[in-house]
Amino acid sequence: MFFELTDPVTGRAFSDEKIRDELLAFLFAGHDTTATTLAYSLWQLGRNREMQERVAREAAAIGDRLLRASDIGDLPYTVQIVHESLRMCPPAATAARMAMRDVEVDGYRIPAGTNTIVGTYALHHDPSLWDEPEKFDPDRFAPGQSVDRSRWQYLPFGGGPRTCIGDHFAMLEAILGLASVVRKLEVESLHDDFPVKTPFTLVAAGPVPARVGTRAVAA
Ligand code: HEM
Repeated sequence: MFFELTDPVTGRAFSDEKIRDELLAFLFAGHDTTATTLAYSLWQLGRNREMQERVAREAAAIGDRLLRASDIGDLPYTVQIVHESLRMCPPAATAARMAMRDVEVDGYRIPAGTNTIVGTYALHHDPSLWDEPEKFDPDRFAPGQSVDRSRWQYLPFGGGPRTCIGDHFAMLEAILGLASVVRKLEVESLHDDFPVKTPFTLVAAGPVPARVGTRAVAA
């Protein structure tokens, strides 16, 4: 695909270096992040069976065909599951910024040029911002529930001019992937814990065992 693309302004083909950089972006920014989101969502559904049934029902209602982007509107509960998974287990646990001018945050002076880290994981688990932050509760993202929430309280894809460029693609992939799996398979999580580590992005620290079977009737 990249080999056929040309720059709309100059008409030039992509250089090998440019193609390499794009592929690296997909591999490093796009692969593990989405994989962790799917794995964590499945683990949660594997221990919250009623939620899993609800996802299975809305996916089955679409019919027995490949799910596509236009189905997202018919998968509202699956969307809530993915949002709550991204809150509890944000694959990008931190975001980095350099202060472009002197600023004061919460009484602390930050001089221009300072490198800062935003603790996204901590923000998503802060009990002063979320009721029962350690509880997996997709209803936090039910229609209307996010209206009074600050834009800066939930940042799985970051924010501002350098926000994630793959956020829509990632949501699409995670929602359709999750619905496709749960429509066909029943998942039972065998462990109560989802251990994580952060070699770069946040990933599962080891295998997350589950018992998986064919879903008899996706009613
Ligand atoms: C669930 C999946 C994903 C999550 C949670 C995620 C999260 C993030 C976050 C938090 C940032 C930093 C934003 C900021 O500093 O404000 C970021 C940047 C980025 N992401 Fe994603 N991402 C995901 C999937 C993807 C995918 C699928 C792609 C590419 C296809 C992608 C490409 C990028 C790129 C290129 C940047 C750097 C943007 C820039 O610096 O201008 N991401 N992502």
